[in-house]
Amino acid sequence: MPPDTDAAVTKPHVFPFYRAVPRLVKDPVTELARMGVEAGGRVVRLDLGPFRPYLVSHPDHVQQVLKTEWSNFVREGMFWRPLRRVLGDSVFSEGDAWESSRKILKPLFTARYVTRLGDALADTIADSMGDLDEHARTGRPIDGGHQMTTITNQAVVKVLFGGRISHETAERLAPEFATCATSIHFRMLLPFAPYSIRVPGDRAFLASAQKIDDIVRPVIERTAREGDTGATDVLSALLRARGGPRGEPDVRQIRDDLVNVYGAASETTAMSLTWLWAVLHEHPDVDDRLHEEIESVVGGGPVRPSDVPRLGYLRMVLQEVLRVHPPGWIIPRQVVADTEIGGVRIKAGSQVLVSPYTTHRLAEFWERPWEFDPERWSPGREQRRHPFAFIPFGGGPHVCLGMRLYYLEAPLVIANVLSRYRQELTDPQRFTPLPGASMRPKEKIMVRLVPKRPAGGDS
Ligand code: HEM
Repeated sequence: MPPDTDAAVTKPHVFPFYRAVPRLVKDPVTELARMGVEAGGRVVRLDLGPFRPYLVSHPDHVQQVLKTEWSNFVREGMFWRPLRRVLGDSVFSEGDAWESSRKILKPLFTARYVTRLGDALADTIADSMGDLDEHARTGRPIDGGHQMTTITNQAVVKVLFGGRISHETAERLAPEFATCATSIHFRMLLPFAPYSIRVPGDRAFLASAQKIDDIVRPVIERTAREGDTGATDVLSALLRARGGPRGEPDVRQIRDDLVNVYGAASETTAMSLTWLWAVLHEHPDVDDRLHEEIESVVGGGPVRPSDVPRLGYLRMVLQEVLRVHPPGWIIPRQVVADTEIGGVRIKAGSQVLVSPYTTHRLAEFWERPWEFDPERWSPGREQRRHPFAFIPFGGGPHVCLGMRLYYLEAPLVIANVLSRYRQELTDPQRFTPLPGASMRPKEKIMVRLVPKRPAGGDS
């Protein structure tokens, strides 16, 4: 039973301006979670001057917002507006645009379809290791965030565009998306600032959105001119699904679809893999066990998709990384009609913030919630959990389409890296979560890679 649901009208747990703002300025992600935890899962109202969102963290309340009453909680308003400027109208919209895009994209990410992508994905990821080999050889540390972004980017570009975008062009896409994701930091912290006023990050955001367009549109136009070759990449499938009455493609719409999937797939995956380096440093026992598993399943490589189901401990570690460091740290919604959550009356137009980061730290649902412990994912233990206590991929009709792709791609990347090298952080510290479209560490995670085998050896 969630707290307070039986009361007809309950007051939310209010954090007044003078208490909320100083805390949120310091470390917004952690402090927001602490506020949710202090409220014991009750609905929290944050008084941020003109902006007074509700923080929703109890799994029953999350289920109401994302699933049972999902159509009353829409992706409009202050948080989504900045993103729309790059995402356009597709699967991250609402209404007809969302529904038709989801219908077209969903079959492209089913288990069967993703399995068909496996070999190409494994090859692309293995090819990306060349850069790491160079770092390992010279002893120069890698910037974990940068390298994970580069590797994920190559993999996602392969899934989306087949081989139609060169390695170099793909490399140009990643930083533009990273700029979009981080430069809306201010807009997310100051969602009430009107667009007529420039805030820091706006100029960089718009320039990057334009560069993304300049890369993606010509590829769509060129592929459309080639005609249907029966290829399985997402662009080919979109061209088949979105041809006009005379077969002419809707370039604008396909651009929006591709940018939506790219945006959803690359930053999130890359950031979860980035946090992993910090976690492995803090937990040498987990690190050792992971290396042992990879050594026994993969040995010196190459890593194949058929290895992934046998990497059970790696999957437990990845689940725990998504619990403690969920890249989709916040899922904002706007209320359509007056409603009630946990007995708290909420008016139409209000902003509701579902926060996976907070829900994953509620003591009622997680033992030692702030502690990293992959054992909570050992087989059999998941079944006892509330279905909305673990929500890194959201839930309900908008639930992430990319879960299967994630659980293939992420293990392939990690098994490739850890089968080649042992790793150590050169500058260990407490890494602060930075809010943005995806949650990334504020500080760089620099990693030194030490080859496990002599160069050229494969066993
Ligand atoms: C660690 C990796 C990932 C995380 C944490 C993540 C997280 C999420 C979350 C929280 C949502 C819900 C958004 C909402 O309700 O407003 C979502 C939606 C979505 N994700 Fe993912 N995602 C990940 C990877 C991927 C990948 C690899 C893809 C590639 C296809 C993908 C595609 C999508 C799409 C298309 C949606 C929109 C679904 C809809 O609104 O109907 N995601 N994701």
